[in-house]
Amino acid sequence: MQGLKAELLRGLWYVAMPGSDVRPGRLSYATMLGEPVVIGRAKDSKVFALRDICPHRGIPLHYGKFDGETIECAYHGWRFGRDGGCVAIPSLREGQQADLSKIRTRSFPCVERQGLVWIYFAKADEAPRGSEAEPPRLPVFADDVGPSLAIKMHFACSTDHAAFGLMDPTHAAYVHTSWWFKQQARKLRPKEKAFEPSELGWKMVRHDLPPQNLVYKLLGKNVSTEITYRLPGLRIEEVRGDKHAVVGLTAITPITDEATEVHHMFWTTPAWVKPLAPLGRRLMRTFLDQDRVVVIRQREGLMTAPKVMLINDADTQARWWMHVKDEWASASKEGRPFQNPLKPKTLRWMS
Ligand code: FES
Ligand SMILES: [Fe+2]
Repeated sequence: MQGLKAELLRGLWYVAMPGSDVRPGRLSYATMLGEPVVIGRAKDSKVFALRDICPHRGIPLHYGKFDGETIECAYHGWRFGRDGGCVAIPSLREGQQADLSKIRTRSFPCVERQGLVWIYFAKADEAPRGSEAEPPRLPVFADDVGPSLAIKMHFACSTDHAAFGLMDPTHAAYVHTSWWFKQQARKLRPKEKAFEPSELGWKMVRHDLPPQNLVYKLLGKNVSTEITYRLPGLRIEEVRGDKHAVVGLTAITPITDEATEVHHMFWTTPAWVKPLAPLGRRLMRTFLDQDRVVVIRQREGLMTAPKVMLINDADTQARWWMHVKDEWASASKEGRPFQNPLKPKTLRWMS
């Protein structure tokens, strides 16, 4: 069971940011898994990601100029292509030789799909291949459809505690107490849900949602949902009615081993969502902020390195997260394929 820090998993694709945050001819940057990353969109509109460090004297490349093809370092003007290779050193005079092919900053596999920029963090310089060669694809929506709503928030906790929060079925009544969400939250009711293993994690098996709920009514009749949890910290909820569908993604991306970026977004078929986006964004922000505040308070306690607990069945999914993570780490170390350690199970709790 983890304290302040979490092991960072490699050999996986992580959500970097929505594609709309990477404008043509501009550079964006982020720290992911402890590494500085600069992300650009080239003239052909393709995105790329490089280690955000100039190999000359170490200044972050994002301070430089980007002309849509090459990044010019802000310090001495060395230029780098989108593959990270150095293409020019302006200080060189005739007769002065430098083998540019040996000078480069690392490039990360980077894919933009469904409006998201995904970056692959290799195990030890391994290239993604097989099923790892592509980031996960969200259900229902085509590759060129981006989210209607997207927010991100910085959580002062490790990915483990962010993940526990994500899959915690019993905190809502105490943490998410806004008037618009669960007005009668404190009236706990018995819940029972079936779960089964799925790719790199598990899923809450598809089940019907209450037909009297106004929001669900907007999706048509026979509204049902399926929630998938998978490495490296993705929660994918697919809500479907006979008229419309909504897909929600929460992606936790480690900034370091004790700080996390939480991305929260929705893809929607109904056109009515566009005008509601500002309100939706506000509600999402309020909701996520409640989780953010809880982990800040929890951190105060975790600083004293207490022994903490996971109980059945309310915390069973948190246990599964640790099992799946441990298996990923062991499989990577032993150079063998990941074997999902989970079995189908029905969980019961009050919430
Ligand atoms: S530090 Fe980048 S060119 Fe010198
Ligand atoms: Fe929450």
